[in-house]
Amino acid sequence: MDQSEYIREMASRRGVPIIRELSHEKLAEVTRRVNPKTILEIGTAVGYSGIIMLSSCDASLITVEHDDYKVEEAKENFKKLDYEKRATCILDDCNVFVSNMVAGGEYDNYFDLIFLDGPKAQYIKMLDGLIMLTKHGGTILVDNVLFRGFVRGDKTDMPKRYRTIVKRLEMFLDKVETHPDIKSFKLYELEDGMLEITVK
Ligand SMILES: C[S@@+](CC[C@H](N)C(=O)[O-])C[C@H]1O[C@@H](n2cnc3c(N)ncnc32)[C@H](O)[C@@H]1O
Repeated sequence: MDQSEYIREMASRRGVPIIRELSHEKLAEVTRRVNPKTILEIGTAVGYSGIIMLSSCDASLITVEHDDYKVEEAKENFKKLDYEKRATCILDDCNVFVSNMVAGGEYDNYFDLIFLDGPKAQYIKMLDGLIMLTKHGGTILVDNVLFRGFVRGDKTDMPKRYRTIVKRLEMFLDKVETHPDIKSFKLYELEDGMLEITVK
């Protein structure tokens, strides 16, 4: 087992949510295709998806997470794989962080690739800001957009606790479909659903 597989194994044993297997492959494929120089990730967990992206290109990564113990672990994991110089881990609430980045202005049109994998119910709130931070023609890849098949799917057996997340993800997809600053989007119906957005 190599280091990254070990990190995945340890995370899943402890119930730390990380990207699923096919989505992992899609993330690596999109990263190789976009060949970014700058990446922003929302939702670090312990750095597993960050490692996938860093091992698929030469970019530098800024990744934000609100759980301090995960940030510390992600830093150690980046170090173990010699990625510490290319990875900046930020401990913050992603909404606050994105709002501050937008307000500061220095990261406008800055990122070639954004991987959105944080709080699902907040995607819609962050969308406009993330588009501003993405370069023209850049990519935003979003995980879990179909949320267990309930988003735009059969809700007969949906637990009540998922209502808000599912409703907001549906609103998020509606917004993507009509957003004036989005050039195109593609939905990958694999696992929990991934959406690739290309910004104008
Ligand atoms: C699905 S996990 C990320 C998995 C990671 N991208 C991977 O595949 O290795 C989502 C992460 O977002 C974090 N998160 C949830 N709400 C957040 C918030 N408001 N601000 C920052 N991080 C948040 C969670 O703690 C969790 O670690």
